Amino acid sequence: MDGIRKNAPIGVFDSGVGGLTVAREIMRQLPNERIVYFGDTARVPYGNKSKDTVTRYSRQIARFLLTKEVKTIVVACNTASAYALDEIEKEIHLPMIGVVKPGAKVAAEVTKNGKIGVIATQATIDSNSYSDYIKQKNPQATVLGKACPLFVPLVEEGLLEDPVTDEIAMRYLSELIDVGIDTLILGCTHYPLIRKTIGRIMGDGVTLVNPAYETARALKRQLEERNLLNEEKIDLGTNQYQFFVSDDADKFKNFANSIIRYGILSAKTINIEEQNE
Ligand code: DGL
Repeated sequence: MDGIRKNAPIGVFDSGVGGLTVAREIMRQLPNERIVYFGDTARVPYGNKSKDTVTRYSRQIARFLLTKEVKTIVVACNTASAYALDEIEKEIHLPMIGVVKPGAKVAAEVTKNGKIGVIATQATIDSNSYSDYIKQKNPQATVLGKACPLFVPLVEEGLLEDPVTDEIAMRYLSELIDVGIDTLILGCTHYPLIRKTIGRIMGDGVTLVNPAYETARALKRQLEERNLLNEEKIDLGTNQYQFFVSDDADKFKNFANSIIRYGILSAKTINIEEQNE
């Protein structure tokens, strides 16, 4: 696209800390890129809000990221990808990518028995986004969605490997086991952090699809195709990764540092409500 600088940062946003699982994959797969991350920690969760609200929030965040002169926007939140991406994409003249399509595409390709499970927030399940994209790619597939609302607070409380998480996961996942799915999409940004628990309960016969990983791969392809990969060497010590949040920055920083090895140098609180809608 004309006028987009290759060395501009990649904008990444989520309702809070969950999108860090996507940012982490982008850091791994595209180590020579700058990132501006926004986590809407004051208004999280999105997963129980309406389409209108999630779209309004996402629009404000996209406008904020534009002020940071990003070259592309990654919607690193399943709920916002499901509810808001199509609309925001029409308004923002930049390449955008969400987490739903890359995850759905891979699940549609890897399933052998055509039975795919999706675990996600209530909003993502209600939107039918995963199931619609999967069926576009693989019309024979059967998709079973299951909302797992308690996983988000369990992850945020740091109970990544804990008997309580095991117990709740057993309850949520048992019906997916009973119908014999062979592929399970971790359709919420927090879930890759409890992947071990989910994998153990589902068993070896079930392939787990991590949309965070697939999105970083798809982003890399997209930037390559548009000739937008950064070719400049990034000096260590420059602000390669910048983090902004709508609530307490220290709290965010502590969580972020527990899951990202690159070290969150700084996180800044901004007033997202000030952005135009
Ligand atoms: N990041 C959200 C998602 O992936 C989960 C947390 C929330 O409900 O906001 O859907």
